[in-house]
Amino acid sequence: MTELNNIALKILEKGKGILAADESTGTMTKRLEGVNVISTPENRLLFRETLFSSSCMTKCIGGVILYDETIKQKNSKKIMIPELISKMGSYPGIKVDTGAKVLSGSPDEKITEGLDGLRERLKEYYQLGAKFTKWRGVYNISKNFPSKLSIHANANALARYSALVQECNMVPIVEPEVLMDGDHSADECYQKTSEVIKKCFEELILHKVDLKGIILKPNMILAGNKSNNKISGDEVAKLTLKCLKNSVPSEVPGIAFLSGGQSEKEATENLNLINKYNNTNFIMSYSYGRALQQSALKFWSKNIQNIEGTQKVFNHRAKMNTLAAQGKWSKDLEI
Ligand code: 13P
Repeated sequence: MTELNNIALKILEKGKGILAADESTGTMTKRLEGVNVISTPENRLLFRETLFSSSCMTKCIGGVILYDETIKQKNSKKIMIPELISKMGSYPGIKVDTGAKVLSGSPDEKITEGLDGLRERLKEYYQLGAKFTKWRGVYNISKNFPSKLSIHANANALARYSALVQECNMVPIVEPEVLMDGDHSADECYQKTSEVIKKCFEELILHKVDLKGIILKPNMILAGNKSNNKISGDEVAKLTLKCLKNSVPSEVPGIAFLSGGQSEKEATENLNLINKYNNTNFIMSYSYGRALQQSALKFWSKNIQNIEGTQKVFNHRAKMNTLAAQGKWSKDLEI
């Protein structure tokens, strides 16, 4: 199992983080149509290939999470996408859940599906070059949510998934995302996120998952996006660290945050503060989707053949986050 620990550490070494480019075709279509680009397999590939061949891949991006469509595609030079990512010095990974569906018994909540046939799909992804995987459980906060049922059911699925992934020699990213949608306070986010993460580890341990061979991908502790009581970046960092220190076992090598709807700069600034105050032994890095791609996508959409210009925008964002993952970012480095 030291092999999995090595992969996890390598993905997050020296401020490197993860590019989450695993949007399902439905989500990617929304993103592309949002910037007036038609969502075809060719256009989805062109944007993603542009990012994956950027120079920041070598020093900033330790791993890329792909979607099923992309891991099976070849780039314009006929190189398989996982091979391209490996050549750039990064690890290819794959999202293996099949999405969040209505949770029977609590229909306003979601349970993530994808366990049926997972062992066979994992073998295929491993053959295609995947070194790590992702599964996202999703929880919303309101007076009665997340319910005990959703916390339990999603933790159980995350643990069953993780055990199967390690059996197939890949590193599972365990992603319990407590959403920022709503008017809840940061304290409520802290309480619920702590409960969710603790339950995940209870189940991971029960399922004999080697905690040294996983990466945790949590949300930061934030007030809801409709809350009137937003907290400062300093408070976000301190609450996030307190939550993780109290709920994550020390064997876990690394934590890579999702951005969850924060703006690009907010996600960078908060990560930087987390690293400035980091009083844990965990590596604290990023596994951003929107907060790494937003500006690059906007730029690219104006001229989808402007590869170099798009890469410049993406390189900058990746560099800023890699600095933040070492507590070395400052506002004046932004352009
Ligand atoms: P965001 O950073 O856009 O939240 O995406 C991360 C992710 O992988 C969600 O599952």
